[in-house]
Amino acid sequence: MSDIEFRDAVAVVTGGAGGIGRALGARLSAEGARVALVDLDEAAAAAAAAETGAAVGLGADVGDETSLRAMIDRVEGDLGTIDIYCSNAGVATGGGLGEDGDWEVSWRVHALAHVHAARVLMPGMAARGSGVFVVTASAAGLLMLMQSAPYTVTKHAAVAIAEWLAVRHGGSGVQVHCLCPQGVRTPMLEGDSGGRSEVGSSGRILEPDQVAGEVIVAIRENRFLVLPHPEVHDYETAKVADRDRWLGGMRRLLSRLGQ
Ligand SMILES: NC(=O)c1ccc[n+]([C@@H]2O[C@H](COP(=O)([O-])OP(=O)(O)OC[C@H]3O[C@@H](n4cnc5c(N)ncnc54)[C@H](O)[C@@H]3O)[C@@H](O)[C@H]2O)c1
Repeated sequence: MSDIEFRDAVAVVTGGAGGIGRALGARLSAEGARVALVDLDEAAAAAAAAETGAAVGLGADVGDETSLRAMIDRVEGDLGTIDIYCSNAGVATGGGLGEDGDWEVSWRVHALAHVHAARVLMPGMAARGSGVFVVTASAAGLLMLMQSAPYTVTKHAAVAIAEWLAVRHGGSGVQVHCLCPQGVRTPMLEGDSGGRSEVGSSGRILEPDQVAGEVIVAIRENRFLVLPHPEVHDYETAKVADRDRWLGGMRRLLSRLGQ
């Protein structure tokens, strides 16, 4: 169990203008945290903050280290030392193998954003012996989104970064969590018909608030992996047990979807 105290904790949620990030911010605010919702879309972040009880909505590009550092400085200046950081922003780009630009943005937002935030925040959290760092990866980071190589590969990177942080810093009182949902009803899923049919074919579509609730429970239990779709554990177990069989099953699913 965790001794985390949400009341008056300072929390940052990136990708906070909508979807899972907005729901996470709302849950954390309801728990009494002082939340900064951060998004590329500053006006949407400010609107989401006003609607969900967050302390502030800010604009920043978490794929850009300078912008991310300026955002962290601003939050710490205005609200105080960051206790909870949810590195949640994400992009759906690049069908198939994608273009180089799809890889570039996916790498920046799904991998480097976590690294840059951890570089700034982890030393202080480790020195204080407390802090929570949540990486939103995806079930695609454990398994695959057949529709997109850039998404799949960079979400695998996100899982690996979270595991690395958990090993390096998890023993010092810092909590690291990795969120790996399948389908969640958000603007990202709604705007991506290929991804929607693939995700919809393999499981239930959850509401963002359900996913945010699972994150709060995992933080309280100090449990690394957050699987709002528990069946993902069985899929991953099957993959590791027999990769050829798993690949064959994925090929059959791909041909059923006609993609
Ligand atoms: N919706 C799903 O089915 C699903 C499943 C698994 C994982 N995820 C992951 O959950 C996270 C949240 O996604 P969502 O489904 O809520 O989608 P969403 O599109 O509603 O939210 C993503 C937010 O991130 C913001 N963003 C993108 N690039 C940014 C950047 N460089 N800097 C700051 N903000 C940026 C967007 O403006 C957007 O508001 C993502 O990491 C996504 O990959 C989503």
